[in-house]
Amino acid sequence: MVGRIASLILCMLCAACSGNSNANTNKPAGGDEGAAMAIAALPTQAEQGPLAAQGSEVFKKYACGTCHSRSLQREGLGGPPLGGAATRHLTRQSGDELAARRWFYAHIRNPKGHPGTYHNDGAYAAVKMPAYEQISNEEMRALVEHLMTMR
Ligand code: HEC
Repeated sequence: MVGRIASLILCMLCAACSGNSNANTNKPAGGDEGAAMAIAALPTQAEQGPLAAQGSEVFKKYACGTCHSRSLQREGLGGPPLGGAATRHLTRQSGDELAARRWFYAHIRNPKGHPGTYHNDGAYAAVKMPAYEQISNEEMRALVEHLMTMR
């Protein structure tokens, strides 16, 4: 009986511990560290298509389209057009597919002053992109994969 209670307490402690480590939870962490944690590896070629399709729904769910077109034209919106965004960031990252994905992740979590953006470009100064902490890491992986189709 005592042994059972002891192992029960041990179990609860373990559960509490793993809840505190960010690695296996869906709790977003910002910055490059959060990006590396959430996007640990490239999705396989077979995974990329279905993920990107889900990501298109995430894009709609969080109304990214109120500021961004997904074409090469701005279409009268406040933010930069996202058509070609993957090409732009792949070029910036010397073709590193993982680094480009992590850049998107970190940017969406906290765009303010993030290097590599149009932040100091007066053309987009009228609106500010909000920091999205409410998007789960699962949704983020899909959203980022969707952005990676913008080549
Ligand atoms: C209120 C307007 C607004 C909303 C809503 C918004 N953004 Fe932005 N976004 C901007 C502006 C302005 C910039 C350019 C300045 C900057 O990078 O912060 C930008 C930049 C970006 C960039 C960098 C583009 C590039 O080529 O470097 C990406 C990617 C992006 N946004 C994705 C998203 C996604 C995904 C969402 C939805 C989850 C979203 N944005 C919602 C205004 C917005």
